[in-house]
Amino acid sequence: MSPTSTGPLRHFLQLRDFSRAELQYIFKRARLIKDKFKRYQPHHTLHDRTLAMVFEKASTRTRVSFEAGMYQLGGSVIHLTTTDSQLGRSEPIEDTARVVSRMVDLVMIRTFEQTRLERFASHSRVPVINGLTNEYHPCQILADIFTWIEHRGSIQGRTVAWIGDANNMAYTWLQAAELLDFVVHVSGPPGYQLDPDRVRDLDPAHFKVFDSPDDACRGADLVTTDVWTSMGYEAENDERRRAFADWCVDMDMMDHAAPNALFMHCLPAHRGEEVTADVIDGPQSVVWDEAENRLHVQKALMEFLILGPQDTPAA
Ligand code: CP
Ligand code: NVA
Repeated sequence: MSPTSTGPLRHFLQLRDFSRAELQYIFKRARLIKDKFKRYQPHHTLHDRTLAMVFEKASTRTRVSFEAGMYQLGGSVIHLTTTDSQLGRSEPIEDTARVVSRMVDLVMIRTFEQTRLERFASHSRVPVINGLTNEYHPCQILADIFTWIEHRGSIQGRTVAWIGDANNMAYTWLQAAELLDFVVHVSGPPGYQLDPDRVRDLDPAHFKVFDSPDDACRGADLVTTDVWTSMGYEAENDERRRAFADWCVDMDMMDHAAPNALFMHCLPAHRGEEVTADVIDGPQSVVWDEAENRLHVQKALMEFLILGPQDTPAA
């Protein structure tokens, strides 16, 4: 089955499902889409198309950006959650995929294990997008890198400091570094560091592990962090609070980074835990641009998956 006008069925289950050239296309297209949005110019390239969104975890940004984005592209959206669908009553995810994908043009899922997303995708007739799993959050990294490009230009050759949990965001940054040729400095407390099994197939030239978060930040062009407890790990909350106490991004840590370093956080944030208020609300922070850019990059992504690359400016 070939749902795009130009090629075979494509999914976006992790960042490295796309090549460097395809990521660069998405950033370029997002620029055009954002510029048109800011000028109130219609961009209805997905007229009559339908997106199904399946949420098995909570969301604010992902839901609003995909839903608003699809409507702005001229399409429509169906929102499902575990509790209001048969997924919550043990219908196999494969059967849900078979049924939903006969009725819509595109599916976005936020779920737990990456394997659950992969099971859905392998039974889907239409493209499937990862809206966050325990392992990866590729849509967020599209927005983060687009935000970097808007503020500073190419990310090639730059250094990103990842401070905190080796979570879905961290592993997606590592994939981005290899694809787009930059380096990630990673620092987290013992017990919450990168899993050797998961980095075995990554090029060690693109990441470096530090015991001290200050050392990880030294000279970094971008400092970024995330919650100490990701969704699905709430039972570990107290233990994590204790373990991560020295991995709070504060002004002292930012002072180890390059003088004009940016700060990013995918949000939601907990001021006083993973980041201090003066950093996230300070002049180096671009977190609101990051959040807004989810809308623009995902519109480019949805277009790409349904229509293939668009060479000419669309109506
Ligand atoms: N950053 C992000 O994915 O936010 P939500 O959990 O609100 O969707
Ligand atoms: N790492 C966080 C990101 C939330 C957008 C989580 O998985 O909960």
